[in-house]
Amino acid sequence: MQRAALEKIRADIPALAHSVWFQNGGVSVTPRAIAAEQMRFMREMVERGPMHIVYPDEEYPRRARSKSRLARFFGVAPPELALMRGVSEAYQTVLRGLTWRRGDQVLTTAEEDAALYLPSLHLRDRHGVDVVKVPLLADMEAQPDAFAARTTDRTRLLAISHVTTDTGFRLPVAQICAQARERGIPTFVDLAHSAGLFPIDLPELGCDFAGILSYKWMYAPYASGALYIRSEQFEALQVTYAGGRAEAWLRYDTDTYALKEGADRFEYGPWSWPLVHTWAFAADYLAAIGLDTIWGRTAQLTRRLKQGLLAIPGVTLYTPFETERSAALVSFTVAGWDGAELTQTLRDRWRIIVRPLTIAHNGVRASVSFFLLEDEIDLLIDAVRSLAQSRR
Ligand SMILES: Cc1ncc(COP(=O)(O)O)c(C=O)c1O
Repeated sequence: MQRAALEKIRADIPALAHSVWFQNGGVSVTPRAIAAEQMRFMREMVERGPMHIVYPDEEYPRRARSKSRLARFFGVAPPELALMRGVSEAYQTVLRGLTWRRGDQVLTTAEEDAALYLPSLHLRDRHGVDVVKVPLLADMEAQPDAFAARTTDRTRLLAISHVTTDTGFRLPVAQICAQARERGIPTFVDLAHSAGLFPIDLPELGCDFAGILSYKWMYAPYASGALYIRSEQFEALQVTYAGGRAEAWLRYDTDTYALKEGADRFEYGPWSWPLVHTWAFAADYLAAIGLDTIWGRTAQLTRRLKQGLLAIPGVTLYTPFETERSAALVSFTVAGWDGAELTQTLRDRWRIIVRPLTIAHNGVRASVSFFLLEDEIDLLIDAVRSLAQSRR
């Protein structure tokens, strides 16, 4: 990526002036151009009134276009996307749309964010479903087999992250999903830490369902999201929550209705369309920079950070070193330091923002955005080196 292009993007993100930003995996900083788009819709609403009421001929086609732009970004047809508030809601929609019997099984990983983990445990407690956690393996070749080995004739769903939230493992999702499909097991993939980082073609990835977020690596405002449903799965998934706006038609004289045909039958209730329009704008913003460019620079920066950390005595890197096995998250521990204390100290002394690990390790997670500078990566390495030395 050209230096001038990088500087232009950085100048477009005022929040970068206040900290050294390694927490994009939480919620992203917002580029001015994307914020301006959101504000444009708010201004429009103030000046012209509620969009779909006052000028439906403009707003409804705009809604369709926003969905199409998002669908194009993920290589799917617009009817395969249902708007959601985020991955949590997308996953719940799938869980509640399937039929469960006591003793059925959900296969997941040992490192899922609450968005998948909590609904799975809740399903266990309500319906007696077993939640089986598959460990993350250092040997990527062995990972699909680790899922296969735990699959039984009671496995009803496989639900995993594309990139895990704490240690940042990128799973070989295409192989895992292909294997599950051979056994007739539907698959849900959480794209929270992959959408926006490199090109994703969902049909190629091969999952039946996916949960997508606006507010991390797609740099759109907090929060909107989507549920992808492969069209072949439309019939298998029941609508549990039917509400206003899910209907294709609704008749008061006969008390009858029909739900919409596509994945949008899972959308109900009022919606913040400015958020969705802005998310579609953000997808175009990323596409204009180029997802290959974004990924190329992310890989370069994460490699630099991992190499620097590995050279420090007392540092253990949890994220796989290979870029094809990881994404933008780099997680590590420093001997003698608690993750929360390390997070606070990096913030207090260097204005470096990371977050503590929460699942299996006591360390920190650094999220590496493509617009970070090499100097910022080196600052984190130097800060960790000095803290590691101080406790040896
Ligand atoms: C892997 C992963 N999935 C999902 C989420 C959040 O999803 P939601 O905002 O829908 O709860 C996060 C983090 O915030 C995450 O790390």
